[in-house]
Amino acid sequence: MKVHDMTFKEGTEFKIRIKPSDDCSSFAINIGHDPDNIAMHFNPRFDWQGESNIIVCNSKSGGCWGDECRDGNFPFARGEECKFYINFNMEQFYIKLPDGSMMNFANRLGDVKYKYFDVTGDARIVGIKIK
Ligand code: GAL
Repeated sequence: MKVHDMTFKEGTEFKIRIKPSDDCSSFAINIGHDPDNIAMHFNPRFDWQGESNIIVCNSKSGGCWGDECRDGNFPFARGEECKFYINFNMEQFYIKLPDGSMMNFANRLGDVKYKYFDVTGDARIVGIKIK
């Protein structure tokens, strides 16, 4: 599900509420310029290709994935709405997970403004706010 007409700038806070489906295998929040240039791919995998309960983050540049980062903290449950707060600067994305813990991911594209948002996989967007 793509979100249109929204600009995410350095220093602003992006709040997104997501509901993974009851049989969710994985979902992803993508922030970037277009499908081939994604600064942050945030991908909780409940059970996907032999992996379970892990968050995978990556970036995509010119259509090519970069190096994956993995985090074993997994404060999500299928069918339960979850809330994320994301902000960023030229160097890092900061993601506040539903349990209040923080995660960082390098802003490898290094830009301070992104207009492309996409949530993919077995989840739906419940609400979005930028302030
Ligand atoms: C791939 C997967 C993509 C993306 C990528 C992240 O294996 O097909 O959807 O999650 O990993 O590195």
